[in-house]
Amino acid sequence: MCGIVGYIGLEDSKEILLKGLEKLEYRGYDSAGIAVQNKEGITVFKEKGRIADLRNVVNMDVMATTGIGHTRWATHGVPSHDNAHPHQSTSGRFTLVHNGVIENYAILKREYLSDAVFKSETDTEVIVQLIEKFSNEGMDTEEAFRHTLTLLKGSYALSLLDKENTEVIFVAKNKSPLLIGVGSDFNVVASDAMAMLQVTDQFLELMDKEMVIVTQDKVTIKTLDGEEVFRAPYTAELDASDIEKGTYPHYMLKEIDEQPAVMRKIIQAYQNEEGKLAIDFNISEAVSEADRIYIVACGTSYHAGLIGKQFIEKMAKIPVEVHVASEFTYNMPLLSEKPLFIFLSQSGETADSRAVLVAVKELGHKALTITNVPGSTLSREADHTLLLHAGPEIAVASTKAYTAQVAVLAILANVVANFRNLTVDLDLIKELGIVANAMETLVDAKEEMEEIATEYMSVTRNCFFIGRSMDYYVGLEGALKLKEISYIQAEGFAGGELKHGTIALIEEGTPVVALATQEGVNLSIRGNVKEVAARGAHPCVISMKGLEEEDDRYVIPAVHELLSPLVSVVPFQLIAYYAALHRDCDVDKPRNLAKSVTVE
Ligand code: F6R
Repeated sequence: MCGIVGYIGLEDSKEILLKGLEKLEYRGYDSAGIAVQNKEGITVFKEKGRIADLRNVVNMDVMATTGIGHTRWATHGVPSHDNAHPHQSTSGRFTLVHNGVIENYAILKREYLSDAVFKSETDTEVIVQLIEKFSNEGMDTEEAFRHTLTLLKGSYALSLLDKENTEVIFVAKNKSPLLIGVGSDFNVVASDAMAMLQVTDQFLELMDKEMVIVTQDKVTIKTLDGEEVFRAPYTAELDASDIEKGTYPHYMLKEIDEQPAVMRKIIQAYQNEEGKLAIDFNISEAVSEADRIYIVACGTSYHAGLIGKQFIEKMAKIPVEVHVASEFTYNMPLLSEKPLFIFLSQSGETADSRAVLVAVKELGHKALTITNVPGSTLSREADHTLLLHAGPEIAVASTKAYTAQVAVLAILANVVANFRNLTVDLDLIKELGIVANAMETLVDAKEEMEEIATEYMSVTRNCFFIGRSMDYYVGLEGALKLKEISYIQAEGFAGGELKHGTIALIEEGTPVVALATQEGVNLSIRGNVKEVAARGAHPCVISMKGLEEEDDRYVIPAVHELLSPLVSVVPFQLIAYYAALHRDCDVDKPRNLAKSVTVE
């Protein structure tokens, strides 16, 4: 969480920093700030709220060709002006922005900084005060910075300005993402290439525990032992228009609409010259040889993993466990003899998943990351990567990345089944094409979805999603979408579980959304709908063509039963969207959340 930018060059930095922060707002949006440096010194502007609020307090008359900026997702200390970054040392010589969490900040404060006066509740302020302390003790800035870094436990991406060193931005990274953008006559710093595509598409990756001295015409990367590291820049394959909303009112709606195109792109990306589905031989081999697969993920990606388990077990016949990453590290299950780990992560930066990756790599196990972001931390650190090809997902609520994950998992399962000479009674290319067409129908059914949202979600405080088999997993995702953007208390349940406790919550008018796309359990889920209706619930049945009944609220086009989650989730995404819209919620930036969860 939190986004960082920096610029050092010949142009005025303020607008470049502000535009960069706007592109990083998905990483946190409770407060923001910039610090700009010129011959007269360093000026800090910061404000609680969004980048738009920050713009109101920035004095555009201050010209400065060096600057750093930050958009915050609060960890230590409430969102406020004082806790907003940048933070300054007592004398004002050093100014710092930070993304990450310093676990030992309280110890460091006690041991080294008992005399310092703190202005914020943040862990970040400890870092900038330590740098000043070591500088006062005679170290030059680079040494003081490096020495401070050696004391920090936790995650950080840092950019530092020194009033007495006007030609440099000092940068460091450990566990939090950070890139250096390279230009002619300027260099930039950014948590994500998207932020600086406005000025360059050339970026340098940084590794953990590296520090960088960035000047207008030079980038020097060093290890914490002071050894210089040489690395060539790469070209960010991002199209600036991919990260614009265009005529859409919200990124979420745009991304929902993009799903049919994403399906077609995935089919294309994973086809070989003979028109057959294919993935890297080494990945097929690694998956085939595993005696058990562990899918590790969080949130929406975890929900995609639950569906992936069905694909892999049904098609490739390899047992699969799906784990929530944040639980796995502390509560590691008894592992099989030859496990393979699959990390599912849209961003490829999720700290909880990364903690598991680090732990299983230490045990010597192999890992495959399935991500939307090439070059992301989870991709770099795993043995193999499969890309989602969904294009940048900006809305905090994940939509197209979820369906892309499900589709790529289906392809993986299918290819591995072929690799293992197993017969799969499914022409996946054809069926995914049918899915793309069905998605098209659903994204065109916005009016109906808006009506459902109005009818069921306008006044309710809670809502249940029920389903069986695949529909249960999609219900979990439907509930997450609804709660995270509309703030309606929503829960997904296996239809059969309701009567074991939850049915007690059903009151007159409680909306219960039921999904019926699976022939084998159609009668059972219908029975559950009757049970809740008999207790006053307001049921909303969404069924698949061929299984529909008279009172069903919406019938989705028929697709292969195994692939139904790819289409049945779309109405849920749209219902959540319209429910949030009608409640005047900030659809793309729901409260308390951030897109890329880079703290554990
Ligand atoms: C919800 C949502 C989150 C993410 C989760 C994992 O809409 O987007 O639940 O799925 O934070 O993020 P990634 O996939 O980036 O690891």
